[in-house]
Amino acid sequence: MAQPPAGAALVFLLNGPNLNRLGRREPHVYGRQSLHDILSELERHARSLGLALEARQSNHEGALVDWLHEAEDRGALAVILNAGALTHTSLALRDAIAAIAVPVIEVHLSNPAAREPFRHRSRIAPVVRGVIQGFGALSYRLALDAVAAMRQERPGGEDQRHD
Ligand code: DQA
Repeated sequence: MAQPPAGAALVFLLNGPNLNRLGRREPHVYGRQSLHDILSELERHARSLGLALEARQSNHEGALVDWLHEAEDRGALAVILNAGALTHTSLALRDAIAAIAVPVIEVHLSNPAAREPFRHRSRIAPVVRGVIQGFGALSYRLALDAVAAMRQERPGGEDQRHD
């Protein structure tokens, strides 16, 4: 894969449990694209925006907590996070997001608000910068566009959270 442009701002893209099964997991809900295919497109889009994407996926809550901390330690401009079902349950992820100054954008392929009641509550929504959901793989791309627009607004990428 081509290198990001020199001086590109670092953006973490974190995917949680079961998102490694995209493409074959409930395709009527999550689409037919694999995570690998989605990431290839996103890497290209990120480069065109002057962003360097660091994409990771784990089925383990603790790994996601560690990567949120790492995003701050490495001076990331933003984190784009699809926490999967941990969205609805994880106080540890909520606390990790609240503990870092890096803005986090919550992303979902589906629209959890239009699905089963247990998906209606996001534990992390109160501490993220914003939420993009319901656009399939496009949700990730829109999140990247939001990061690029935030960067334009505030050169230097200062913390803009108000929680
Ligand atoms: C999801 C929505 C969650 O409710 C679900 O548990 C997922 C995927 C989404 O991207 O639509 O694993 O985060």
